[in-house]
Amino acid sequence: MKQAVLLATLAPLASLSGVQANADIWITAIWDDFKEAVDCASCQALLGGLKLVADFGESFLQDVLTGVCDISGAEDSDVCSGIIAAEGPAVYYSLRNLELGSHTAKTFCSNLVGLCDYPAVRPYNLPFPSPKPKTSRPPPSGKPPIKVVHFSDTHVDLFYETGSSFDCTKPICCRAYTEDDAPGKTSSPCGPWGNAKCDPPRQLQQSMMNAIASLDPAFSIYTGDVAAHDVWEITKAEVLEDFNVTYGAMESTLGLVYAAIGNHDAAPLNLFPTTNIPSTYNPQWAYDTLTTAWQALTSNNPAISTAKEYGSYSALHKNTKLRIISYNSMFYYKYNFFSYEEPMAFDPDGQLAWLISELSAAESASERVWLIAHIPSGNADHFHDYSHYLDQIVERYEATIAGLFFGHTHTDEFQISYSDYEHRTWDTATGMGYVAPSMTPTSGPPSFRVYEVDPVTFAVLDFTQFIANITDLKTEPQWVEYYSAKKAYGSKLEVPFQGGELTPAFWHNVTVAMEKDDALFQEFWARRTRGFEVPGCEGDCVSNEICALRGADAQYNCVEITPGFSFEKREERSVLLEKRSQPECNHAGMAPLLVKIAHRASLAREMECYMESEW
Ligand SMILES: *[C@@H]1O[C@H](CO)[C@@H](O)[C@H](O)[C@H]1NC(C)=O
Ligand SMILES: *[C@@H]1O[C@H](CO)[C@@H](O)[C@H](O)[C@H]1NC(C)=O
Ligand SMILES: *[C@@H]1O[C@H](CO)[C@@H](O)[C@H](O)[C@H]1NC(C)=O
Repeated sequence: MKQAVLLATLAPLASLSGVQANADIWITAIWDDFKEAVDCASCQALLGGLKLVADFGESFLQDVLTGVCDISGAEDSDVCSGIIAAEGPAVYYSLRNLELGSHTAKTFCSNLVGLCDYPAVRPYNLPFPSPKPKTSRPPPSGKPPIKVVHFSDTHVDLFYETGSSFDCTKPICCRAYTEDDAPGKTSSPCGPWGNAKCDPPRQLQQSMMNAIASLDPAFSIYTGDVAAHDVWEITKAEVLEDFNVTYGAMESTLGLVYAAIGNHDAAPLNLFPTTNIPSTYNPQWAYDTLTTAWQALTSNNPAISTAKEYGSYSALHKNTKLRIISYNSMFYYKYNFFSYEEPMAFDPDGQLAWLISELSAAESASERVWLIAHIPSGNADHFHDYSHYLDQIVERYEATIAGLFFGHTHTDEFQISYSDYEHRTWDTATGMGYVAPSMTPTSGPPSFRVYEVDPVTFAVLDFTQFIANITDLKTEPQWVEYYSAKKAYGSKLEVPFQGGELTPAFWHNVTVAMEKDDALFQEFWARRTRGFEVPGCEGDCVSNEICALRGADAQYNCVEITPGFSFEKREERSVLLEKRSQPECNHAGMAPLLVKIAHRASLAREMECYMESEW
């Protein structure tokens, strides 16, 4: 009999007789459950074990999870206990409500440990007030373009210490965690402008903002993630200080910025409950502070008064027909434990209905719309259901939406929407999502992007990526042009690009050119991380990555979970997961910690099997 099951039968006796629950026994049992979790059924058993632990109360659950994390060696002990203390209440809340074997439970096992098949998208009729009109994207006006800057994932670390060690065992370094890490002591000192192992110092951000301001953009967009990755100890006070510094710098240096909320823009991170969940869990303080900062950045633009209470807003850009809609993508983020509601909502807090009403009004007023958000809707981190619903919205308002703009992955990517995913061709391509890389240098040199934009239609005509090489830098970084989309891809198409809008069809044709010309794909692939530690990508990797570019509806993004996979398969998958997340570095907190623990458990099990066979 499995130990957890055995304990389950004993548990009521223990509580009846008033015997204290023994954390050590449960730690061993849950660790065994992790090791035995090799398919969907055993993942449900693991959840069952965790639910039993939760029956003993919130702090008992935290003790057991912390013990399991320690055994696994997934992180330093203080990181284990810090993350679990921060997110434990959310895990407790979700586990208590979870029903084993439900859509929610399977989605959980699929998303977080890759052990269930991804459940099929649940059909949902989006409430469109009118049918799709026959109009299509307007042609470019031919007027001189304006410049719009896009930057993302700044993650400034206010505790960054020049001269401290970049060689540490924590998720971020360049802090004097121990005496040996201190400036003057360490043989691996961080420079004054940042290091690839660390979130950046404040002065790197100021340098970037100065470079942006010197280009004199019409306005900027910022797709979120202000706070640093010290996720095991970050507090509300620290996040508020981070908001003050980063939004303060935007106000003083950049002026007009339209921004979106990121998964790090609250403490604990990732947790953005809907109003179905008790309000004690709600980061209302983050929403309120951001709303105030956003009002200031848009010069108290009255149109922003359509702000929603959960970090979303819609604003008409002054004296134009451009509407910018910023939405909270964390409701659709697989690492938001509060999304695993029982049953899962079709439209968390009605944000999709709100998007539809804003888009519908924009369509009636002949406005064009930019949708900005943190997490790309086609990304592997996005729930399939919500990705599909969002994509239906993009499809319905094809002629109104000029573009979608995201961050989060830290890498330079894009995603195309199609009216027909069975036939993904240039003439079924309906929407273009731009994913801008990060300022934080943990997955490539710090970077920002300048779009050339039609001042009438607000279509993107080109973009240029800027980077700064901060390696061994003693003097102020030089922000230089890295590549231009038009130059890099326009001449490589079967029908060379003649100028005008970089339409979804253009980008589809870029993906076709990449299929035919591996050198072109490899150039794109290297640009993802701005040439930094470019992982090898050949064969299936190439076709899967191209498929991901064509996967704004995430169920078609080719990030697949092998059904009922065996131990060996899971090994491969864990390696794959680590590989994929390594250059991205955007995952932090409890959920990725569970993934790591599961991975460590599978290694431990392999070791035991090996030793048994030696016997
Ligand atoms: C930052 O804090 C100062 C001092 O409390 C305040 O005056 C300022 O408005 C804040 N700035 C932002 C952008 O929050
Ligand atoms: C960045 O600078 C370092 C040190 O000067 C140099 O070794 C490296 O090649 C540079 N990287 C790029 C991408 O230019
Ligand atoms: C895409 O490629 C097709 C086929 O070569 C071509 O007919 C079409 O004009 C191209 N569209 C764009 C925008 O490049």
